[in-house]
Amino acid sequence: GFQVFNYINRGPIPSLKSGSSKKTIPIILVANEDLKKWQQSLSNNQQSWLKLNDFNATSGEILLFIANNGAVDFVAAGMGENNSSTIEQDPIEPWLFSKIAKSVPKGTYQISNILNDRDANSAAFGWAMAHYKFSVYLKETKQKLSILTVPKNCDINFVSHMVRGSTLCRDLVNTPTCHMGPDDLGEVSKSLAREFKAKITIITGAALLKAGFNTIHTVGRAAEKEPRLIDITWGNQKAPKITLVGKGVCFDTGGLDIKPSNSMLNMKKDMGGAAHVLGLGQMIMEAGLNVRLRILIPAVENNISANAFRPGDIIKSYHGTTIEIGNTDAEGRLVLCDALALASEENPDLLMDFATLTGAARVALGTDVPPYFTDDQSLNSELLSRSKNQCDPLWPLPLYDPYKELLSSSIADLNNVASTGLGGAITAALFLKHFVPKTIPWIHFDVYAWNDRERPGRPKGGEAMGIRSVFDYLATKFKS
Ligand code: BES
Ligand code: ZN
Ligand code: ZN
Repeated sequence: GFQVFNYINRGPIPSLKSGSSKKTIPIILVANEDLKKWQQSLSNNQQSWLKLNDFNATSGEILLFIANNGAVDFVAAGMGENNSSTIEQDPIEPWLFSKIAKSVPKGTYQISNILNDRDANSAAFGWAMAHYKFSVYLKETKQKLSILTVPKNCDINFVSHMVRGSTLCRDLVNTPTCHMGPDDLGEVSKSLAREFKAKITIITGAALLKAGFNTIHTVGRAAEKEPRLIDITWGNQKAPKITLVGKGVCFDTGGLDIKPSNSMLNMKKDMGGAAHVLGLGQMIMEAGLNVRLRILIPAVENNISANAFRPGDIIKSYHGTTIEIGNTDAEGRLVLCDALALASEENPDLLMDFATLTGAARVALGTDVPPYFTDDQSLNSELLSRSKNQCDPLWPLPLYDPYKELLSSSIADLNNVASTGLGGAITAALFLKHFVPKTIPWIHFDVYAWNDRERPGRPKGGEAMGIRSVFDYLATKFKS
């Protein structure tokens, strides 16, 4: 494959420093309700500067105070309504700190307020992500670097794991298919495995058929780059088995049921699930969690050629279930079902899959709130609270079993599409569920993996969704 750049970065985060340095510029977070009181602590000149600028402490509002020598004296940053008077304070979004990092001149900063541990981590994460830019294809790459001396109670290692994992995920999604095909995804996986001394095997092309991974091969066989199944294992063999499965459709044309051009435009991101499990995998391995990690990625390109699979074809899956193809554009569930069946063979203690699986998930919850599906109630409630803590939105949708009949076929065990598009995220999830025994704790995330619009810390393009919540959960549960 084409070496665009080094995807796996393990170095320190340039915009974050720990310890104390002398010449740091204070940032004062001002909540709406505290504005009056804080104002009174300022000099007369400063108070009139505040008035002149009409500073209201609305969320993300930034005001620089310049000293006589022309340097920044301190920065006031609005926090909006911050209900610090209530017992359970809402977490401060990391993106507020991205906004600050982007608004201030270059320099080294520190936050004056005392933050709780959660918000201290949030500040560092948001500050670091403000510096994310996918610049490998740009001639001009110069960027302003503003440095944050992180609060004492910030867990800079934990945050750095999240920054590097999220960055890997974004980079992989942003790289166009010409440089991120099934072969390149294999190479990136190899370098990740090498970095952490993990084992990796890749089953490629016709070997997939020999091993019985017929759905993976069928979806990917029309593409120039051969389909493959990437299998990484890492960690203590005796520790709890965590298996991550990621949809690695490097491009989704829709196949013969071809997508219209506007729907195809962003389909380089259809390996977003793979990007998510590689990013999450990097976090887990960096943190050295006490788990036996396995990452499975069916890597294919859903393209069109004379040998493309067709509507009406029937495939015998690795699981043994026969599947009638109702629509070649519902390819994600096809490649995932073989990987999930393989994952299930060793009865993992936790099985998670990430996939840019349905447009219907976006209709239900929009671009920024990925739905997840699980029958495991403790996992469900754990995850919801981590999601809130991390400001990493997720929301449960039901595995409503009666909808399973919508996937029936008269000539095969299952159809790959439901007879109605309504509830499409649920029927897709039920299709996957068919391949996982009820005894295995399983969770499925339907992620968009993309920011449609530009916001501080979140440029337009690839995005990691839900993996910080999952990492937060795993990091406490499987601390080594
Ligand atoms: N990759 C798409 C789903 C997708 C589309 C995710 C846009 C994010 C944004 C998937 O392979 C697909 O095409 N799904 C179809 C399924 C349908 C044919 C049952 C869909 O959602 O329309
Ligand atoms: Zn598709
Ligand atoms: Zn797809």
